[in-house]
Amino acid sequence: MACGTYCWLLMGLLGISCEVTKAVDKMCIEITANRSYSCEDLGLRQIPEYLPSTTEVLDFSFNFLYTLQPSTFSMLEELVSLDLTRCQINWIYGGAFQSNSHLETIVLTGNLLLFLADEAFIGPSCLKHLDLTQTGIISLAFIPMQDLGNLETLILGSNHIPSLELPSDFPTRNLKYLDFQMNIIQQISAKDISVLKKTSNLTLILKGNNIIHIEGRAFSSMFFYSLNFGGCANVSVILEGLQGTKTVFLWLGTFDDWDNGIDISDSMLQGICDISADDLNLQYHHFSQISAGTFQCLTKLQNIDLTRTSLHMLPHDIVGMNMLKELNLNMNAFTDLCDIHSAAFLNLTHLSIRDNSKKLNLGSGCLETLSKLQHLDLSNSNIESSDCCTQELRGLSSLQHLNLSYNHHLFLHDIAFEDCANLVILDLTFTRIITNTLQGPFRNLHLLQSLNLSHCQIAPSIQHILQGLESLIVLNLHGNYFESGTMLNDNVFGQTPNLEVLILSSCKLPAIQTKAFYALRKLKHVDLSYNNLIAFSSDAFSSLKSIYLNFANNKIRIIPRDMLTSLSGKSVINLSYNPLECTCSNIGLLTWYKQNTDKIEDSEKTVCSEPKSLVGVKLSSVNLSCGHHTAQIILITLVVIAVIAAPLILVTRILKRKYQQI
Ligand SMILES: *[C@@H]1O[C@H](CO)[C@@H](O)[C@H](O)[C@H]1NC(C)=O
Ligand SMILES: *[C@@H]1O[C@H](CO)[C@@H](O)[C@H](O)[C@H]1NC(C)=O
Ligand SMILES: *[C@@H]1O[C@H](CO)[C@@H](O)[C@H](O)[C@H]1NC(C)=O
Ligand SMILES: *[C@@H]1O[C@H](CO)[C@@H](O)[C@H](O)[C@H]1NC(C)=O
Ligand SMILES: *[C@@H]1O[C@H](CO)[C@@H](O)[C@H](O)[C@H]1NC(C)=O
Ligand SMILES: *[C@@H]1O[C@H](CO)[C@@H](O)[C@H](O)[C@H]1NC(C)=O
Ligand SMILES: *[C@@H]1O[C@H](CO)[C@@H](O)[C@H](O)[C@H]1NC(C)=O
Ligand SMILES: *[C@@H]1O[C@H](CO)[C@@H](O)[C@H](O)[C@H]1NC(C)=O
Repeated sequence: MACGTYCWLLMGLLGISCEVTKAVDKMCIEITANRSYSCEDLGLRQIPEYLPSTTEVLDFSFNFLYTLQPSTFSMLEELVSLDLTRCQINWIYGGAFQSNSHLETIVLTGNLLLFLADEAFIGPSCLKHLDLTQTGIISLAFIPMQDLGNLETLILGSNHIPSLELPSDFPTRNLKYLDFQMNIIQQISAKDISVLKKTSNLTLILKGNNIIHIEGRAFSSMFFYSLNFGGCANVSVILEGLQGTKTVFLWLGTFDDWDNGIDISDSMLQGICDISADDLNLQYHHFSQISAGTFQCLTKLQNIDLTRTSLHMLPHDIVGMNMLKELNLNMNAFTDLCDIHSAAFLNLTHLSIRDNSKKLNLGSGCLETLSKLQHLDLSNSNIESSDCCTQELRGLSSLQHLNLSYNHHLFLHDIAFEDCANLVILDLTFTRIITNTLQGPFRNLHLLQSLNLSHCQIAPSIQHILQGLESLIVLNLHGNYFESGTMLNDNVFGQTPNLEVLILSSCKLPAIQTKAFYALRKLKHVDLSYNNLIAFSSDAFSSLKSIYLNFANNKIRIIPRDMLTSLSGKSVINLSYNPLECTCSNIGLLTWYKQNTDKIEDSEKTVCSEPKSLVGVKLSSVNLSCGHHTAQIILITLVVIAVIAAPLILVTRILKRKYQQI
């Protein structure tokens, strides 16, 4: 922060010396005809004259404008949105936007503004969004408020503003979003912000200011949508100022690399009793002595985020938390799921205990009382279970979304999720799944739509693992090794007739059985990349009208034309990174390819590996002339034989007859 101005001057100098090397002939890119253009980073010093006067959206970031004058944008009268990020603008004259009456958004991020005329923003009658991030502003008085009456968004982040003294003409009428993050505001008085009493449902961001004092009740009787004091070290200070305030979101957490989380005591959170909030974030603080008292003033909350707050248990005697719907306990140090004492949170719908640092023991029926729980995230929490998970997840009859990915291993002896028959999404990625019965562990999950078994080592039991999953739409089997390849047949997938997306990438598949996927009539997306396939077998699928087939990174050399002609309609194939032959034995693929470029994905990487002269050449630019086909050759030979043989036979007959007569 301290180096601010100097850094900018230095960057300015560097910028000037770099610009000489920039290409001068690059054209702005048309995003939408006559309406939207991007001239980003083209080394331009003015608005190109070829931009049509109908331009509404212009991204002119990373160019060189230095000053903005009434003539700068006078040709673009229809402008609605203008991005001038890092254009080295220092000077904005009065009337710079006077021709742009429709302008709604101006982004000036990263320009060191030295002068901003009083009438800088005259002209646009409905300016809604003004972004002045990193513009070197040291006082709000620098910004002429007179023409900003309709602002909805004002962003003043990463400046050097020391005080929140909002002037009396501060635009409050439509204001929805006011961002002062990363400034140097330390004190806030009631007088500073009294003008905000005229706003309602405002989002106010004060994250990253080192606030050490707020006048008691300074924010009282104001209604906010979101109040963000992220990274402010002393939570008590903030809460003192917020007495009597109402807000939907209250953000008091800090950040990983800030290392300024404090130990939250019961008395500290007393302040919340006189604040009305729905969602509270306290991430990265510490609760070394948590007790039921800590929650005394949190009873009205619907959502609490306690990510990384050094928790290893929640008190068993917490009362009155019936409003709570979402509880986030990620990155803590629980050893037993029962230690969260979930009975206190009867109405919980979302519970997340992700990235737990200790080995999390699932216990038995620890979440039994949470009959309304819909979402449970237990991913990456060092979980292992020798009999998963019917007892562990007993009572969770509303559960729809269960994430057990990135854990150690789970033995599934019989039905794994007996009470969770309403599961829709189950993610077991990178958790080793061991089954030893021939009964499907998921056979009661008739509503399951998405199952992620990637890297679960389930190949040997694939046949019974899919039992009963008749609603399944998405199945991810990435990284399971089906080396023999024969396990995946029509019988396996006959159990999941509604499957639309099937991921079988990196499965070491040597081949696909004929008709392996024939039962899957709704299949739309199949990923078979990174296997050992030598054949492109389109006959394994029942419908090829509108399918995406990824066969990239296999060992396919030749594809007969009849495998391709059945790919119709909107089908797309990816054949990149295969050792494709560009010889006459592959003429079927080569000719089809040229006629069907709309069905090819990644044609840049779909190249020849043979013959030597064509290695690395894109298939689309190979010109092969293969002379006659085999059939033609046989026909010609026959004709030649006939032409030569017929007279011969004739002559011999005649001669024979002559001799007989003799
Ligand atoms: C863009 O403007 C040109 C010239 O006015 C006009 O001919 C063309 O039809 C316009 N294109 C679109 C997509 O509006
Ligand atoms: C409050 O603001 C938020 C975000 O700007 C918006 O989503 C919400 O609908 C607003 N609520 C009311 C009551 O206006
Ligand atoms: C936080 O601020 C309060 C005054 O509001 C003060 O009493 C307390 O000592 C401060 N705590 C820390 C850790 O600075
Ligand atoms: C929460 O649960 C209690 C007891 O089960 C019930 O009376 C109350 O209506 C619920 N509250 C909400 C907000 O759902
Ligand atoms: C499960 O958790 C992992 C890791 O936290 C995450 O990457 C994944 O997207 C989650 N799965 C679902 C279905 O949300
Ligand atoms: C597993 O697959 C599902 C569906 O494709 C996806 O939402 C989820 O993020 C995946 N999980 C991980 C850990 O990538
Ligand atoms: C084709 O498949 C490969 C391997 O999966 C992938 O890396 C590549 O991005 C795909 N191409 C496109 C255009 O998606
Ligand atoms: C094939 O022919 C086209 C057009 O005649 C040409 O541009 C291309 O370079 C040729 N490809 C090879 C590999 O010679």
